[in-house]
Amino acid sequence: MNASRRGFVKKAALFTTGASLLSTASWSNTSLSANEKINVGLIGCRNQGFYVLREFLQTGNVSCLGICDIDQQILDEKSAVLKKDFQQTPRLYKDFRKMLEDKDIDAVIIGTPDHWHCLQTVYACQAGVDVYVEKPLANSIGECNLMLEAARKYHRIVQVGQQQRSSLVWQGAMDFIKAGHIGKLRKANIWANFEYGIGAKQQADEAVPQGVDFDLWLGPAPERSFNPTRFHGNWRHFWDYGGGLMTDWGVHLLDMALWARDDASEPEQVMAYGRNLSFEEYSRETFDTMSVIFPKKDYVINWEHAAGHQSGPYDMPYGVEFIGDSATVVADRSDWTVKAGGNKETKEAREIAAKYKKQSSFSDVGCHVRDFLRCIKARETPSCSIEVGRNVALYAHMANIAARAGDGSLSWEAGRQSFINSKRANALIMPSYRESWRLSSV
Ligand SMILES: NC(=O)c1ccc[n+]([C@@H]2O[C@H](COP(=O)([O-])OP(=O)(O)OC[C@H]3O[C@@H](n4cnc5c(N)ncnc54)[C@H](O)[C@@H]3O)[C@@H](O)[C@H]2O)c1
Repeated sequence: MNASRRGFVKKAALFTTGASLLSTASWSNTSLSANEKINVGLIGCRNQGFYVLREFLQTGNVSCLGICDIDQQILDEKSAVLKKDFQQTPRLYKDFRKMLEDKDIDAVIIGTPDHWHCLQTVYACQAGVDVYVEKPLANSIGECNLMLEAARKYHRIVQVGQQQRSSLVWQGAMDFIKAGHIGKLRKANIWANFEYGIGAKQQADEAVPQGVDFDLWLGPAPERSFNPTRFHGNWRHFWDYGGGLMTDWGVHLLDMALWARDDASEPEQVMAYGRNLSFEEYSRETFDTMSVIFPKKDYVINWEHAAGHQSGPYDMPYGVEFIGDSATVVADRSDWTVKAGGNKETKEAREIAAKYKKQSSFSDVGCHVRDFLRCIKARETPSCSIEVGRNVALYAHMANIAARAGDGSLSWEAGRQSFINSKRANALIMPSYRESWRLSSV
């Protein structure tokens, strides 16, 4: 075994078929020196994962040792880009388990569809690797809980890809709200209206494209024939792989309402309406139309989406309206403003707001990546910890579950991690994995 940079000594074979318990790993507290480059691997390269990897490499403090995808064409394309733009020649993998055997890899980026996040994060934690996992943390509440358990058990640094937590625009808005300049925040109205939320136009099933390992793409999800409208990019509209706009954008934006109140509590209740009401010729299961209320002790969070078009309140396709007693803040990723109510407090708040405005020369993802890299070396908690990612994922999944289970309103018992009096809702807490990918334990 080469001198491991991972700070642990491996004494047992990591995997059997599917996941296995790595009970014989013992840990040391070695960490990387300040000048040492961090070695990363990427799992899931087509879109967001590769964008995040580029941000890693742009820091100049990272080497890419491996990239992994089930699609050979994507591997070939991305490796050519890495060579040309960054002079990096990573090893190419189809099976992420093989990549995790490289003991020089310190951290992985997980940019796969949501149904893979749990297994790949748990395996990475078991292998002693730190993790930047895309949002939502996982495709179910039960998987989120397993990931939290694994991160804690194996002492891993996990950054969840909710980059708004590292954005100076949102930080400025949060500081302003928390300093009391809008009075008591009692309502957060959130909306996310996106054209892509209706999915792709329906098509018949077809042969699996050459170079694609579709069985490995499905992984823990049920076996089925290949259909392009459920594959690259489009998977987010099918329950087996994603949660539609409710989880895709929900975790980013609901998290802003929770952050503004420094609220780490789990939802106690959710009321949700979700249906597919239009665009019948498009292929999806997740809802094109949703309205959701999360009643909290002394404030309320509202969520709205209408997919298939791209406009909304204040002429913004998405945003958060923070309603306080004395002023209202409206925010998106680019900026936030205090809306004039005409009263004295509002006018004062608008003048003070300018002092809180911040911008970064890096993108939000660039800031998020830099925060993660710093935390890997310092062994500190990153700006979107697994606890934060898990908690907001619970809100988003509960909204979908309330609408899917047909009950409309659900109450959650945090102590038992289950819904009160709803068998149908409780059946959606954890998907049943295909036999070969069953996770026996973390
Ligand atoms: N933070 C953000 O703002 C943001 C934006 C977009 C997407 N995302 C998240 O990023 C993730 C990926 O989304 P996307 O739009 O890039 O999806 P995508 O379908 O475009 O890309 C996913 C890639 O993962 C690969 N893949 C699938 N299973 C794999 C496996 N077992 N091993 C290796 N590779 C595998 C696919 O072949 C594909 O290349 C999702 O979780 C999504 O929610 C986050």
